[in-house]
Amino acid sequence: MYKILLRQDLVPNIHLFKIAAPNVAKKAQAGQFVVIRVDEKGERIPLTIADWDREEGSITIVFMEVGTTTHKLAMLEAGSSIADFIGPLGLPTHIENFGTVICVAGGFAVATIMPIARAMRMKGNRVISIMGARNKDLIFWEDELRAVSDQLIVTTDDGSYARKGLVTEPLKELLEADEKVARVIAIGPSIMMKYCAKTTQPFGVKTIVSLNPIMVDGTGMCGCCRVSIDGATKFACVDGPDFDGHQVDWDLLFARQRIYLDEEKRSFEQWQCQHDARS
Ligand code: FES
Repeated sequence: MYKILLRQDLVPNIHLFKIAAPNVAKKAQAGQFVVIRVDEKGERIPLTIADWDREEGSITIVFMEVGTTTHKLAMLEAGSSIADFIGPLGLPTHIENFGTVICVAGGFAVATIMPIARAMRMKGNRVISIMGARNKDLIFWEDELRAVSDQLIVTTDDGSYARKGLVTEPLKELLEADEKVARVIAIGPSIMMKYCAKTTQPFGVKTIVSLNPIMVDGTGMCGCCRVSIDGATKFACVDGPDFDGHQVDWDLLFARQRIYLDEEKRSFEQWQCQHDARS
């Protein structure tokens, strides 16, 4: 069992858990993920590693309540435990001194981009970060991301905070203004990553995205996380999750992400009924 050392509610439906997992913390690197199971009968879900503390032996995860498992997870308090916590999985993000790097985070992926922006800065890169959310109430870790960036741009879709608009708009402006951008890292909802890659393509700037297909084992055995990159089949859990955004077959990714939508909906409705009956 893996103990929850700390719980923080970052915004109403996005939570941070610090979990005691010394063996995972020993090896965790930016861009990697864990697969968790809340209890013995639960499904396995992948969650990106937002931070780690090797001395304390802990891993920080940030998740949004979207389905049965994340709702179950959100009901746990500090001091309770989860059944399984496997990792670190996936290849770490490639970090080197590229020069100027733009890190783009959409929604709660600000937690995923944090260790990457920090590692890029520590390697001597000039880091420009862009974080976007639907509205003001969903913004978190603004100061934290600013602290590891040379420049931070914040956008909200509805203009309720900072700049109104989508993250692709300042991204395009930066590329138009600064020819020396060597790399873009874009992480967030798949549709956002697709459009970030489309924005950078005419500028020829390599753009890394972190794909989030359905995963089961997380070790390359089940084939669930199959994606197509430049026409070749890859498994996101062992060949990724980072890939060149200009080479991703986005339509296939979207189609595969939708495969179990009905089952997921049914599972959540069932869980809600059980949960309501108990409370
Ligand atoms: S999750 Fe099973 S092969 Fe990647």
